[in-house]
Amino acid sequence: MRTAERMQSIQPFHVMALLARARELEAAGRSIVHMEIGEPDFITPQPVIDAGIHALQDGYTHYTPAVGLPALRQRIAEFYQQRYGVAVDARRVVITPGASAALHLVMAVLVNPGDRVLLADPGYPCNRNFVYLLNGQPLGIPVTAATAYQPDPQQVREVWTEAVAALLVASPSNPTGTLLGERTLREFHAIAASQGGSLIVDEIYHGLVYDQQATTALAISEDIFVVNSFSKYFGMTGWRLGWLIAPPAYVADIDKLAQNLFLAAPTIAQHAALRAFDEDTITILESRRREFQQRRDFLLPALRAIGFEIPVIPDGAFYLYANCSRFSDDSYRFTSQLLEEVGVAITPGTDFGINRPETHVRFAYTTSMGNLQEGVRRLRAFLS
Ligand SMILES: Cc1ncc(COP(=O)(O)O)c(C=O)c1O
Repeated sequence: MRTAERMQSIQPFHVMALLARARELEAAGRSIVHMEIGEPDFITPQPVIDAGIHALQDGYTHYTPAVGLPALRQRIAEFYQQRYGVAVDARRVVITPGASAALHLVMAVLVNPGDRVLLADPGYPCNRNFVYLLNGQPLGIPVTAATAYQPDPQQVREVWTEAVAALLVASPSNPTGTLLGERTLREFHAIAASQGGSLIVDEIYHGLVYDQQATTALAISEDIFVVNSFSKYFGMTGWRLGWLIAPPAYVADIDKLAQNLFLAAPTIAQHAALRAFDEDTITILESRRREFQQRRDFLLPALRAIGFEIPVIPDGAFYLYANCSRFSDDSYRFTSQLLEEVGVAITPGTDFGINRPETHVRFAYTTSMGNLQEGVRRLRAFLS
C-alpha cells in the first residue's frame, strides 16, 4: 500500500493523546481538570441555536454558493464597519468551513511546490501542515517574550528570500495570546509588498481581547488576507464556519478552489450565523468575554505564584503560555505526569513548534472559575 511521502511531515497533536488519556481516566472515575482544550466551554448563544433550528425546519438543507450566502457575506462586511469602522466590500468575503478551510484556501492559492511560508514558532500547529500538503516548506521564525512572542519585522526581513510566498501571523496568537500592533502589521505588509509576497493575518481570536481594541489588518490594506471564524468568540466550533477576506484580485480563484475543495460551507450553520451579529447575541458574547478576562486575571498570577514563568501578559484568546523549566525540561513527560498524578490536563509546548517546546506548556482557561481554582490547588500541592 502506498502512502504519500508528505505524510511523514504531518504530525498528530500530542494533546489529542493526552485528551484521550484524560477521558479514559474520567471513565474510570477520576476527576480531571481540563485546561488543555482550545475551544470555549460555553455552548453557542441561544439566538444562534434557535436560528439554526428554524433553518432546518424551513428546509435550508441545500448547498449555498461556494463563497457563501450573500446575506451572511454582507452581514460580515457590515460587522467590520460597526466594530472597527473599516469598510469591506462584501464581494471579498468568502464563507468557509471554519478558519481551517480559509487557511487551506489561502495557502492553496499562494504556495507553489518548494515555496516557503514564514510562521511564528511557537504557533498554531496546523499551519505548517497546510504548507506541507502543497509541497511547500514552512519556515518557523523563533519568537520570544522579548517581542511578545510575535515575529519582529527585522527577523522577517532577514529570512525573506525569493522562495518565500507569504508570512502568516496570528493576532492574538495561539498559544501565546499576544496581539500584533498596527505599526508592526504595517511593517509586515510593507515587507511582503516589497518582496512580491503576501501577508496573511489570522484574526480568529478577535473579540476575545481584554484590555484594548485589536486592530484588524483590513484597516491597513486590501492586499492582506484576513482569516476569521465563528468558532472562538462566537462559540460555534462544532458548526464548522469561518471566513476569509481576500484581496479583490484573488476572489475569483478562491471561489474556483472552494467549489472544488468543499462546494460550500454548511448551509444550516450559515443561516444560524446570520443571528451571530445581532445585539442580543453580542450581549451574551460580551459577558462571556468578561468572564474569560476574569479567568485570565485569576490564573495568571496564580500560576506565577506556583513557579511557572509567564513573562508576557496575554492580550487575548484563552491561553497562557508558560515556561515550566523550574519543574521539567521535558514538557510532554511533565504534562503526562500532571495528568496521571493530579488529574490536571494541559498542553505540552511540543505541539506548537521546535522553538524550546520542551520547557513550555499551554494552559487554556476554557473551564469554569471553580475548575481553574481546583486545578491551581492541585498543581500547588503537587509542585511545591
Ligand atoms: C490560531 C488558529 N487558527 C485557526 C484555527 C481553526 O479554527 P476553526 O477551523 O475551528 O475556525 C484555530 C483553532 O484552534 C486556531 O487556534
